[in-house]
Amino acid sequence: MRSSHTLTPALALSLFQGADAFWRMGCGIIQTGRVDPIITPGAISGHVHTLVGGSNIGIGSTGPTLSDSPCTSCEIQADKSAYWSPQLFYNYENGSFIEVPHGGSTVYYLGRGVGGAVAFPPGFQMVSGNPFLRSYDDETMTWGNSTYPSRPVADRVTFACLTAGPSPPEQHGMFTPTQCVNGMRAQIAFPSCWNGEDLYKPDGSHVAYLSQIDNGACPPTHPVYLPTLFMETLYSTDQVPRDGNSVVDSGFVFAQGDPTGFGFHGDFMNGWDQDVLTDAVENCLFPDNFGQISYCPALYASDTNGAKHNCPEQPAQIKEKVHGLLDSLPGCNDITYGPEAASFSDNICGAGAPAPPAIASTTYGTSRPTASPAPGASFGLPSQKYLGCFNDTGSPRTLNAVSTSDSQLITVEYCQKWCNDQGYRLSGLEYGQECHCDNHMNPTAIAAEADEVNQCTWVCSGTLYADFDGEQQLCGGLSHIDVYNNTDPNFNNASGDDSDSAGNSPEDPLPSEAEESNYVGCYTDIASKRTLSGSSTRGDDMTVEKCANFCSSANGGLGYKYYGLEYFSECYCGNTFTAPNQLLTPTSSPPNSTCSYKCKGDDSQICGGSNALSVYTNPTYQASSEVAFVTTNAGQYKSQHCLTEPGSGGRALQGASTTSQDMTVELCVNFCSGKSMKYAGVEYARECYCDKTIANPAATLEDCPVGKMMLCPGNETQYCGGPSLLNLYLLEN
Ligand SMILES: *[C@@H]1O[C@H](CO)[C@@H](O)[C@H](O)[C@H]1NC(C)=O
Ligand SMILES: *[C@@H]1O[C@H](CO)[C@@H](O)[C@H](O)[C@H]1NC(C)=O
Ligand SMILES: *[C@@H]1O[C@H](CO)[C@@H](O)[C@H](O)[C@H]1NC(C)=O
Ligand SMILES: *[C@@H]1O[C@H](CO)[C@@H](O)[C@H](O)[C@H]1NC(C)=O
Ligand SMILES: *[C@@H]1O[C@H](CO)[C@@H](O)[C@H](O)[C@H]1NC(C)=O
Ligand SMILES: *[C@@H]1O[C@H](CO)[C@@H](O)[C@H](O)[C@H]1NC(C)=O
Ligand SMILES: *[C@@H]1O[C@H](CO)[C@@H](O)[C@H](O)[C@H]1NC(C)=O
Repeated sequence: MRSSHTLTPALALSLFQGADAFWRMGCGIIQTGRVDPIITPGAISGHVHTLVGGSNIGIGSTGPTLSDSPCTSCEIQADKSAYWSPQLFYNYENGSFIEVPHGGSTVYYLGRGVGGAVAFPPGFQMVSGNPFLRSYDDETMTWGNSTYPSRPVADRVTFACLTAGPSPPEQHGMFTPTQCVNGMRAQIAFPSCWNGEDLYKPDGSHVAYLSQIDNGACPPTHPVYLPTLFMETLYSTDQVPRDGNSVVDSGFVFAQGDPTGFGFHGDFMNGWDQDVLTDAVENCLFPDNFGQISYCPALYASDTNGAKHNCPEQPAQIKEKVHGLLDSLPGCNDITYGPEAASFSDNICGAGAPAPPAIASTTYGTSRPTASPAPGASFGLPSQKYLGCFNDTGSPRTLNAVSTSDSQLITVEYCQKWCNDQGYRLSGLEYGQECHCDNHMNPTAIAAEADEVNQCTWVCSGTLYADFDGEQQLCGGLSHIDVYNNTDPNFNNASGDDSDSAGNSPEDPLPSEAEESNYVGCYTDIASKRTLSGSSTRGDDMTVEKCANFCSSANGGLGYKYYGLEYFSECYCGNTFTAPNQLLTPTSSPPNSTCSYKCKGDDSQICGGSNALSVYTNPTYQASSEVAFVTTNAGQYKSQHCLTEPGSGGRALQGASTTSQDMTVELCVNFCSGKSMKYAGVEYARECYCDKTIANPAATLEDCPVGKMMLCPGNETQYCGGPSLLNLYLLEN
């Protein structure tokens, strides 16, 4: 009984092609949990919300307590308001739920309506949408008269589907799991008319919508015009591991048991610095400023693009599991499909209800993540010593041997173990979600000065997800890495099988000069997941040339970009390196790590080692040229050659970022488009960065050095940048 209604052109046009009178800001999650201080103040909410904004948000928050927040996860630091919407899950056929990753929210303040606007008053709060709705209500209308016609109130909620090609029209109900390969955006417009008296009324009657919701006139009963709040929430629906069965009702469901999207809703509690808000509403809301905060001095003064990370998700106040895989929707919400509205009796906990979860102190913002330990201190697993926070802007990296990343699993202990298990003493955490390993540190790395502002302030992805009761840890930051050393003197003595000093012997046989110049390095390899996973062959006459010839003509004559030799006589080909196999020694000179076995067909040459692959590039390989234009729902992004990371002062693009094992140019461009950022760049195969401008002006634009470029893991006919090198795309309107 699900119905989806295509958005009427009026709303679509008026929101995005009307006056450019607005400002907007990006926000990261500040808390996830059954917290809703407007609807259920002081108590556990009926369903889970994702909240963005002031760090003091909790079940007991009010405008004044929010304004006192130590930090906010929104870009404009003078805004300690909180904004929230229901959490989205994917419902497996077996009944389990998995959270759909929240890609951040964008909050718009639009200058709309025929009557100007005043600032939201201190203590003001409001809700838009109705969590119980399960179908489009075309009967409940906004106020209107013959000059200012009304429209269905239900038009306040819309969904946008981000696809690789042209996107389908926006609609009022959710899209299905297979439709939006680059994510789904939920959007809600708030009431913009106030009765001028009540800061809040539980029935919502202190506010009303403009006659056209995002335009038009206020009803005579609500004569005070406010800014039109419009909130977008990006859900990375594409990153959910689905079970693939398109059984009718297996799919996305909002936390209140809504699989339709018609029950999407948003809440706003004003926590602004009132002077800044007043100044901004008076001076920046109505002039055409294209949404640029930099055109508004009042807002620009406290604008930062590091808010999400400097004010990361806070520990949950409600002590129940809400992240990752769940058995049921927290709060015992049954899934109801409509079309009739759901009701409170759909709460299915019944007599055997579990005890309500514990509630932690309502004073938030005081429990900032555990800071990194002092250099020299022990931290994490036994024998692990913290060496400090180092820069990681160079190429090669500070720790350069192998690395892994995960947006949900990385903790200090996880990385220490991962590196040690691969035979590396040093482990390093960066960017909240990356783990790098090596046995030696790049000597150019510089430790942060004791009195310097610590650059390693990002919360580890794993401490947000693993244990809601646990302390949050820090995992480096933007271009900064926290490094740990396993100081156990016995470390790795036992596992030093073939990686002994034999490989360093000066008598090591060398490949010919031609091959040497194509040599990339010695990579780890495992049988269950080959580093080069294209064609392969083996032979007792194996030589470097034989393997080169084999890989140049394999793949139906197209050849492969790389060829590699292993274990005396094996030859592998591929266009990209499969994680988790990574470079062991990034040197172009004699392989000196574990690649030390002589080739069966020529004992003057090296053919890898045990689980070690001598990798070469095939100079005759021609990758398809990169995609020059990528179309998104926001327009066309055009290829701009390459941008080299400056090496100091932060990344070239700093506005937003994501990583994916399946990165493609389209995926990155759509991610940046979803964040309203006109620059998009792919780097180091799996990384994607966005910004509104080139944030670090020291970045240099140059022709792309093809030899350094890496293929996109999600589409090996495209390039996805290289080490410290971005393939840049720019939105052209
Ligand atoms: C349900 O299926 C998902 C996806 O296959 C799986 O991860 C989860 O463990 C399953 N849940 C149960 C209770 O078996
Ligand atoms: C419609 O409402 C507006 C705003 O309240 C008012 O100014 C106008 O006179 C009304 N027009 C009619 C025809 O009633
Ligand atoms: C650290 O910063 C210095 C100075 O900017 C730079 O020369 C060096 O390459 C950087 N090292 C790394 C590993 O990023
Ligand atoms: C790590 O610890 C080992 C053993 O104590 C020591 O030999 C090594 O120098 C340390 N490495 C660094 C980079 O501090
Ligand atoms: C491991 O190597 C260290 C340093 O060479 C040495 O002191 C220690 O005794 C060795 N341990 C074992 C079990 O061989
Ligand atoms: C490998 O060889 C290079 C160049 O000779 C040297 O700088 C490097 O330290 C060696 N690496 C190891 C792990 O021995
Ligand atoms: C891979 O990229 C090429 C070049 O942009 C494009 O033509 C092709 O459709 C892409 N393949 C997939 C599966 O997206």
